[in-house]
Amino acid sequence: MRKQIAAANWKMNLTYQQAEQLLDEVLNQNIELGPNQQVIFAVPFPYLIMANSEVANMANYHIAAQNCSDKNAGAYTGETSVEMLQSVGIKHVVIGHSERREYFGETAAMLADKLNLCLGAGITPIFCCGEPLPVRENEGQNNYVQQQLVESLFHLSADQLQQVVLAYEPIWAIGTGRTATTQQAQEMHRHLRSVLAAKWGQDVANNITILYGGSVKGANAAELFAAPDVDGGLVGGASLQAAEFSMIIQALKK
Ligand code: PGA
Repeated sequence: MRKQIAAANWKMNLTYQQAEQLLDEVLNQNIELGPNQQVIFAVPFPYLIMANSEVANMANYHIAAQNCSDKNAGAYTGETSVEMLQSVGIKHVVIGHSERREYFGETAAMLADKLNLCLGAGITPIFCCGEPLPVRENEGQNNYVQQQLVESLFHLSADQLQQVVLAYEPIWAIGTGRTATTQQAQEMHRHLRSVLAAKWGQDVANNITILYGGSVKGANAAELFAAPDVDGGLVGGASLQAAEFSMIIQALKK
């Protein structure tokens, strides 16, 4: 059975002190999670160990890295390997966020390599996909996002795929305040599930958690998450405010 997940993506925000405070504020709400619900905080690299120790005794609360290297180890100055993340107890990594694809030149082939490294280390990748505005305006979004899956995921076995969480994040909705409508999100999530079903079978497709991302807020989370194929959210801006993010956690389906 698939999970319902509220994932915070802090991006390159917050000092260490601010990060500690925000995490405390959310955790102190003691929001009770069902067995199928998870909260994940994707925090900047220097805060991973602190954050991971804060959630150590909290069932279903996890810390993620926002990225990892596509290389194993070696002379890659400034990179962080999957093995390093694993060695500090990190079990989730965001892969292929549109900002990484756009500003840091990450290609589909690099993302496939990152996925392989994560899966080999027992780390859950949160794999992001989503179309830019001109593609949506030409109604090409279904093919565009399908192609992203084909290029980076289709080499995986069914067992491997079932370790992956997907996040559909239309680029035109990220940080813009312009959320996809619930219908747009549902249509794309259903499409993604049908793409997975055609390749790996309906049972596998039904088991994959698919998050929506792009201007999710406290005020729109419940409606988005109520859509049958939307299994939670990947949240940027609104995850930087404890009250907003807490509302989003509470909007998860039971
Ligand atoms: P946003 O970002 O919630 O600020 O739109 C979402 C994301 O980039 O993951």
